[in-house]
This record gives sequence, C-alpha cells and structure tokens, in this order.
Amino acid sequence: MRVLVTGGAGFIGSNLVDRLLADGHEVDVVDDLSSGDADNLSGAVASDRFRLHVMNVLDPGLPALMAERQPEVVCHLAAQISVRKSVADPVHDARVNVEGTASVLVAAREGRARKVVFASSVAVYGRPATIPVPGDAPTDPRSPYAASKLSGETYLAAFRALHGIEYTTLVLSNVYGPRQSPEGEAGVVSIFTDALLNGTPTVVYGDGSQTRDYIYVDDVVDGFVRACGQLGDGRRFNLGTGIQTTDRRLHSLIADAAGAPDKPGFAPPRLGDLPAMAVDPVPAHEGLGWQPRVDLSTGLKNTVEWTASRRRK
Ligand SMILES: NC(=O)c1ccc[n+]([C@@H]2O[C@H](COP(=O)([O-])OP(=O)(O)OC[C@H]3O[C@@H](n4cnc5c(N)ncnc54)[C@H](O)[C@@H]3O)[C@@H](O)[C@H]2O)c1
Repeated sequence: MRVLVTGGAGFIGSNLVDRLLADGHEVDVVDDLSSGDADNLSGAVASDRFRLHVMNVLDPGLPALMAERQPEVVCHLAAQISVRKSVADPVHDARVNVEGTASVLVAAREGRARKVVFASSVAVYGRPATIPVPGDAPTDPRSPYAASKLSGETYLAAFRALHGIEYTTLVLSNVYGPRQSPEGEAGVVSIFTDALLNGTPTVVYGDGSQTRDYIYVDDVVDGFVRACGQLGDGRRFNLGTGIQTTDRRLHSLIADAAGAPDKPGFAPPRLGDLPAMAVDPVPAHEGLGWQPRVDLSTGLKNTVEWTASRRRK
C-alpha cells in the first residue's frame, strides 16, 4: 500500500516511515523540515519505495501532489508540537495545527485516500478526573495546543460526514525514544538524557512526584501501522501504557542507563504543570489489537544508547 506521512522527517514520523518501508510499503513524506531533520530519513532515502516532498502542509500545491501520488492512507503527524510555543503564539499554532489539518483533509479527498490516521494528544483531556484516562473521557483543552489538536479531531469527523473519508484518531501520551526533541510532550526524557550524558546538572520541578505515562516510539509506530490497515470507523484510541512514572523515578532510570549519578536538583513546581497523567490503553487493545511491548527501562536504555552513539559520530 502507499502511505503518505505528513511530518515524516520528525521524531515519530521518521520512525513510522522506517517501519512502513521495512514492512514493504511505498512511502511519501510531506514535511517542511521546520522542526524535523532530513537526517532522520537517511535510511529511508536508500529505498526506491520512498519519496520526500519538502513542502508545508499549508502549501496550495498539496492537493495536486496527493492527486498525483494517490496514497491509500495519509498519516497526519505534521504539527506545531510545543505547548509552550502555542501559549506564546496561538495564531501560529492554529495555522499549522487547525488550518494545516483542514488542508491535509482537502488534499486527502483530492487524492482519493481511503483513510487518515491522525496524531492527537492527551493534552485534549486537560486535568482528567480519572487516571488512567478512559478513551471516552470528556475533553477539556487548557492550552492553544490542546485546543488545536481537539479541533483537528473534529475536522476529521466533519470530513467523514461530508465526504466519507474514514479516519482513526490516536491520542498519544508522552512518547520517547531515538530522534526525539526536547520540545515534545516527553521532552524531559531528552533533556535528562543529554544532561546526564554531558555530566551537567539536572532539575526536577516540585518534589518529583509528578507523573506521566511514557510510551516508547516503536509501540506508537505499531499503533499507526495497525490503524493504517483497518477500514476505520471514526474511532479514537489512547496510545499509552496506563502506568504512571514519577519524575524522580524517570531521573533514576535515565541516570542508571547513562551510568551517571542519580542526584537531581529540585526547583519550585512550574505554574500549570499537571500533577498526574496516564491513559487507559485497553480500548486500543480491543479495537486495534495493539498493546505496548517495550518496558520503560528497556526503552530508556535504547534512547540513551542512541543519544550516546550520535555523540560519537
Ligand atoms: N512526542 C510526543 O510525545 C507527542 C505526544 C502527543 C502527540 N504528539 C503528536 O505527534 C506528532 C508528531 O510529533 P513529534 O514528537 O514527532 O514532533 P516533531 O516536531 O519531531 O515532528 C513534527 C514534524 O512536522 C513537521 N512540520 C511541522 N509543521 C509543518 C508544516 N506546516 N508543514 C509540513 N511539515 C511540518 C516538522 O518539520 C516535523 O518533522 C505531532 O502531531 C504531535 O502533536 C506527539
């Protein structure tokens, strides 16, 4: 099958591209390289089943490109990914994440794509009443980023109703692994990893008891691959482990993997930080046959090894 991946030069997108190529698919990437890196695709470019289109998803040429390439499935990952930047410049966030998603849907219709798989975020749940957050929990966006991701979800529903484009929404928890940037929702993993490998100080905000649900990138990629293969019925699935990991424990695990002292500094909690988060992955198991396979200490070891190997180059 031919799959077009928007944001395919980024952290999750490029890992997805590698997996799709390894599975024998044809892959087109649309990415403006604003936060992604062509180096992430250095393995993919060797394949004659791969094409990179350096293009903004807002480019008026996108529908013509999709009409020419006719992907069966579009995985839409291109986005402004930083909550902090969305607060500083909500209009830019909306342009990329809301207008950009509308633009991708128009183009997907033009290219007669069978379905769109969309990367949403647990940010849409705001401060959830129940943890792990069930898939049908009420949404409560508390940042422009959360609002723009939720808006993307509603555009998918509108295009399905209007034009019959199928979709699956994957609500990603805190994704970590090789190629991640410090800006994303599990940015703390790359910040701790860099500092602990460099021997520079690390800071935990608050008393270290804040929790997040860390999911390894290969597991997330597997969720996308499963969603690509399904017919799609406008469903949304949480992709997370359901397990809460405290900041303090995360620091210990990364220090252990990096062979560094486990001695973070502590600073006052940051305004607006969520005290706890984890999502219920059971519906994804039932609906996609998906479940997380990589435990946190193995995933963190892989991430530290990848970061250390990059430095040796
Ligand atoms: N990393 C996480 O923990 C996490 C959690 C929840 C949701 N997500 C979502 O997953 C997706 C991928 O995130 P990531 O962590 O790989 O981020 P990333 O920044 O590494 O990837 C995003 C990619 O989109 C590209 N891009 C940005 N704006 C574009 C535009 N206007 N036109 C074309 N390309 C554009 C960037 O160059 C980059 O390659 C995003 O939609 C993000 O919101 C990520």
